[in-house]
Order: sequence, then structure tokens, then C-alpha cells
Amino acid sequence: MEADYNPEDAEVENPLRPHSFSEYIGQDKVKENLSIFIEAAKSRKETLDHVLLYGPPGLGKTTLAGIIAAEMGVNMRITSGPAIERPGDLASLLTNLNEGDVLFVDEIHRLPRTVEEILYPAMEDYALDIITGKGQMATSIHLPLPHFTLVGATTRAGQLSAPLRDRFGVLLRLELYSPEELAKIIVRSAKILNIEMEPDGALELASRARGTPRIANRLLKRVRDFAQVMSEGVVTFQTAKVALDRLEIDELGLDSSDRRMLEAIIKFYGGGPVGIDTLAAAIGEEAITIEDVNEPYLMQIGFLTRTPRGRCVTKAAYLHLDMPVPESYEESPQQKLWGEPVS
Ligand code: ADE
Repeated sequence: MEADYNPEDAEVENPLRPHSFSEYIGQDKVKENLSIFIEAAKSRKETLDHVLLYGPPGLGKTTLAGIIAAEMGVNMRITSGPAIERPGDLASLLTNLNEGDVLFVDEIHRLPRTVEEILYPAMEDYALDIITGKGQMATSIHLPLPHFTLVGATTRAGQLSAPLRDRFGVLLRLELYSPEELAKIIVRSAKILNIEMEPDGALELASRARGTPRIANRLLKRVRDFAQVMSEGVVTFQTAKVALDRLEIDELGLDSSDRRMLEAIIKFYGGGPVGIDTLAAAIGEEAITIEDVNEPYLMQIGFLTRTPRGRCVTKAAYLHLDMPVPESYEESPQQKLWGEPVS
């Protein structure tokens, strides 16, 4: 089926993907609440209410959807907003579900409006209302559907239309992981991949993985290559450090694109404020990539603030980049007022 797709972390054969809450590290609040909703739905012999997972990319939204299906004891179909081009694509996905199944829609904010409209009655009444024919010949077909759970995932909950957002019974925000949680994930992944890992090697990797398991697991594989060649396969603190330095990931996990972005704000715009589109054009990146990939972590570590007039770098960012803090630097009243991370 065309509307089926396989995101990077949804590969069936991805051995690093946890399959149960007990294997899933971090996101404690999300796990605790979800387990309660799942247990309650199961004891009532009902399907789970529709769930919206939102937060930056790489935090395990697809993985969680798989766990929800596994814990409910049902199958999951995977698709994405942009893959469902026409109402008919959605209709054929929905009519092929079994009672209780999970339908996972990644990037749900990118569903075409025409598709969104037939999704509403499907979510609310488990039915499709399809109009066939034109003019006087037009007839409406009411097609009952199996009860199902829609799990939607998005990096941008704000872009979801209100009617769609309101039809989710459970809204869960995933947070960036702490270095300690990431270290546990790395130790688990290293075991699965048969990589010998020293605890401070794992912590070094974790502290440079910018709060994101997908990045942690990617870096683990690259550090393994260095370890194999440099230290008989063992990931020590030293190998992790040397490998990450060579990969140009600094002690705080910033990569060259983060640094380029901060440096551009400082060099071209006096530290900000600068609008996102202007900044994107200046460094040749997509505004969406900056917003989804670079900004959440830079705001989390206090290097960047969003104000109504644009993005500003903080004094901490100047210091980290070894750039002179301008004498005139002062957090503007607006930055003080609005500078709290917006996420
Ligand atoms: N791999 C990716 N995300 C994970 C998580 N949250 N827990 C365990 N392993 C993971």
C-alpha cells in the first residue's frame, strides 16, 4: 500500500527499539500515565482513546506507539501525514484495520486538509462518510469501521488544526532526555550490539547526544568504529572523547550546524534578535530544520532565546564559542520577559 511507509526508527528489524514499557528508559511521566490509560482501557475491554505524541524528533515517538500497540495486545499500521495524499488512501488504511488496532500517523501535522476532514468522523464515530457521484447523482455512503486507536506524532503540535487536536483524548509531550537517562540507553544499546562499553565512556557519549536517543545510538555506532581501530573494541572515556572530537561534536553536543547558526547570529546580527527566515537564508538551512532540530536543544541548554522580535543568543553561547561578549551586551527587557524556553 502506498500510504504505508517506514520511518528510520520504525524498521521492524531495528534491534535497539524497546518493545515494552519496562525496556523503555526515561519519559517517566508519559510512561506512568500511558500505562494507567492502557490498563484501564483493557479492563473495560475498550480500545484506547486516540493519543497525540509531540516533541522534538528522535525522542522515540514511533517506538512508544509500538509499545502502546504491544501493551494493548494489538497490531500497528504505520503511515505518515504526507504519505496519505487522498481521502481514498486513508479510507483504505482504515477499512483494512482489525478491531482494536493502532494506526500510527507520523508527522500528522502534514495531513492534507481533505484527508483531515474524513478523519474526524472516523476518530469520533468509527465511521467513514463517503460521497460518490456528482450533482443529483451524488450519494453518501456511511461505512462503519473497526474501533481503532489513532496514535499521531508531531514535532509541531502548534500546527495541528484545533478540530484535529481536540479529537485526541490523550496528549503527551516528550521531553529531551537527561545525560544519565541517555547513558542508560547507550549501555543497553551497546549490550544489544555487543559493544564493550565502560561506564564513563557511556556518560561521555550521553553528554554529547543533545538529549536525543536517536543521536545517542547513531554516535554509539560511530564511536564503535573508532574503538575497534584504536582501543581493541572497548569504548573507554578516552576513545569516546577522541571519536566525538573527530566527529566535530563538542563537549556540549553541538555540531557544526549549531555552531554555524549561533556564529551567524553573532557575526551578522549582533547577537540578535533575528527572524527565523532571515537566519535560515543566511546559513542556507530550512527554517523548519532550524526550529525542529537545532533550536530545542540550544534553548534547553540556555544558549538561545526566542523573543517576539526573533532569536537571540545568550552570554553563555558567546562564552562557549570563545567569542567576545560585546560591551553593550545586555539581555533586553523583552528577552528577560520572553526568554524562557518556548517549547
Ligand atoms: N532506544 C531509543 N529510545 C529508547 C528508550 N527511551 N529506551 C530504551 N531504548 C531506547
